[in-house]
Amino acid sequence: MTMSSATLTSRLFEPARLGALHLPNRLVMAPLTRNRASADGVPEPIMATYYAQRASAGLIIAEATTPNAVGQTYPDIPAIYRDAHVAGWRRVTGAVRAAGGTMFLQLQHGGRIGHPETTGLTPIAPSPVAFPDPIHTPGGPRPGVVPREMTIEEIRSTADDFAAAARRAIDAGFEGVEVHGGNGYLIHQFLSDTTNHRTDAYGGPVAGRIRFAVEVVEAVADAIGPERVGLRIAPGVTANAMREHDIERVYPALVEALADKGLAYLHVVFADPGQPLFHRIRGDWPAVLIANPALPWPTPMPADGGRYAGERLLAAGADLVSLGRAFLANPDLVERFRRGAPLNPVRSEYWYGGGELGYTDYPVLAGPAVRTGTSAGA
Ligand SMILES: Cc1cc2nc3c(=O)[nH]c(=O)nc-3n(C[C@H](O)[C@H](O)[C@H](O)COP(=O)(O)O)c2cc1C
Repeated sequence: MTMSSATLTSRLFEPARLGALHLPNRLVMAPLTRNRASADGVPEPIMATYYAQRASAGLIIAEATTPNAVGQTYPDIPAIYRDAHVAGWRRVTGAVRAAGGTMFLQLQHGGRIGHPETTGLTPIAPSPVAFPDPIHTPGGPRPGVVPREMTIEEIRSTADDFAAAARRAIDAGFEGVEVHGGNGYLIHQFLSDTTNHRTDAYGGPVAGRIRFAVEVVEAVADAIGPERVGLRIAPGVTANAMREHDIERVYPALVEALADKGLAYLHVVFADPGQPLFHRIRGDWPAVLIANPALPWPTPMPADGGRYAGERLLAAGADLVSLGRAFLANPDLVERFRRGAPLNPVRSEYWYGGGELGYTDYPVLAGPAVRTGTSAGA
């Protein structure tokens, strides 16, 4: 896309409502795991710098954060189940708020994506189906282990842990939370028939496999109010060895089960609006729909950061567009899009762990901000 007056007046720069919140534009920073918390899950001060640099996003969804010890996926990811975690996150949300930003926190339980060498615990999952690939641990990559099948009691207590984590997230200054139902982690493992072989009420037919997702979302909504809760899903995404055979039945059923709960949003990965599931979900979902234009994964980041694909999804009915790598590499992404300026290339070697390099050192454009459209000063 070339710079033109159309570029400057894109719908991306229109304000939007999200629950009770007013967002200055429709660009959402997608959650991005960066492994820069302390070994016990406390957000480090550098994370406040990183997120504050990106505060011009209409909404930031902070990286996957574990609601309990056994749910931890990888080393140095943040947590939100102890007071020290809350205190660390408070520094981050304070810095983002001071910079004018709005922030949700993504809650992620890894299920079978976890390792005793990281947590000291055997991972738990819907069924004892091992993750087939190596998992990153503090000592390096290790073969996935067979997870222990969750008891009904553990299923309930895990939903309670999500709810407690959501309360703590609000206490830490977030505007809301996003429940991570995608990318092969615990909730996704319940949705898929390849990882869920249960014969009780949480497995089997579609109604059984969506039950855990629905109960987690309900527990979180009861804890902090549905208008502060989003759900991320990734129908058909094969990340983390996920395989699904019936996405055309599972996801419409899940969307239908949650449609009348008054939630803030649904966040979905879509290749493009030509996907039949896009129209189905858009039609059935009454609240805000955030579209993340990336499939199949992994694909290299497009030169425009995903903007063109995002504009197409907006035109087809999405309300907000989330971008991951473009925000990772461009703290001033909104301004760059406004100006039609080129983007910084993303340096993937610094994605997972390390310090400032490839984290807080991406350059911003020089010169005064361009103010356009209705978003000026909002
Ligand atoms: C470094 C990195 C970390 C990611 N971490 C998360 C995460 O914590 N939670 C999540 O839901 N998705 C995560 N994703 C997926 C992104 O949110 C997004 O869906 C993906 O990057 C595709 O969007 P993009 O093309 O705009 O980057 C991650 C992606 C990358 C590149």
